[in-house]
Amino acid sequence: MDLKEAIYNRRSVRKYNDKDISDSDIKEIIDAGLWAPSAVNLQPWYFVVCRSENSIKKLNEIMGGSIFGLKKVLDNRFKANPEVIDETVNFVKSMGGAKTIILTFLQREDYDEYTAAVESAAAAMQNIVLTAYSKGISSCWLTAPLHVEEELRAEFAPKKGRLLAAITLGYSDLKPRAPKRKDGRFVII
Ligand SMILES: Cc1cc2nc3c(=O)[nH]c(=O)nc-3n(C[C@H](O)[C@H](O)[C@H](O)COP(=O)(O)O)c2cc1C
Repeated sequence: MDLKEAIYNRRSVRKYNDKDISDSDIKEIIDAGLWAPSAVNLQPWYFVVCRSENSIKKLNEIMGGSIFGLKKVLDNRFKANPEVIDETVNFVKSMGGAKTIILTFLQREDYDEYTAAVESAAAAMQNIVLTAYSKGISSCWLTAPLHVEEELRAEFAPKKGRLLAAITLGYSDLKPRAPKRKDGRFVII
């Protein structure tokens, strides 16, 4: 797929159908993440790919505890759009029914340049969502899991660094509209 098409047409999708993603597609999607640029080549990411029924169940249980904190953030940000609040809360309650969910941690706790490590992992996550899209697989990158970071770390990556985000992956029948991009976010000098 043309890169431009993926960049402009990828959307955050919050409801998935039952169709499974193949193991080979998952491997290719993760590999694209591993090929992201990283600060001083630290490759500071650690991905936990939840695919088993047991891991998804555990993840969903823990995510249930994030709703209270998340709702406070959403009430503040989307006062004028209660439907966005409902959609997001419902999504997080079941992670959209996703049967594959990637948790992105830092590989270590002690990076001197924390910001550079986070930026590197974000580049990897962008590769992941774009590669998924190029294969017809929908995704949503979400930081709502940060409300339950300690529980997720303890369960899924107790010896690794901070949790940065989750990415849900799956096939979907939905085609969400693109949220408008804001003006005034760049200058050419
Ligand atoms: C760092 C980051 C955190 C996000 N966290 C959430 C989240 O917690 N819940 C959610 O539903 N969407 C989340 N999103 C998705 C955004 O809401 C979405 O990207 C934005 O509304 C633009 O829509 P689009 O991805 O379809 O272009 C997040 C995206 C990013 C990059």
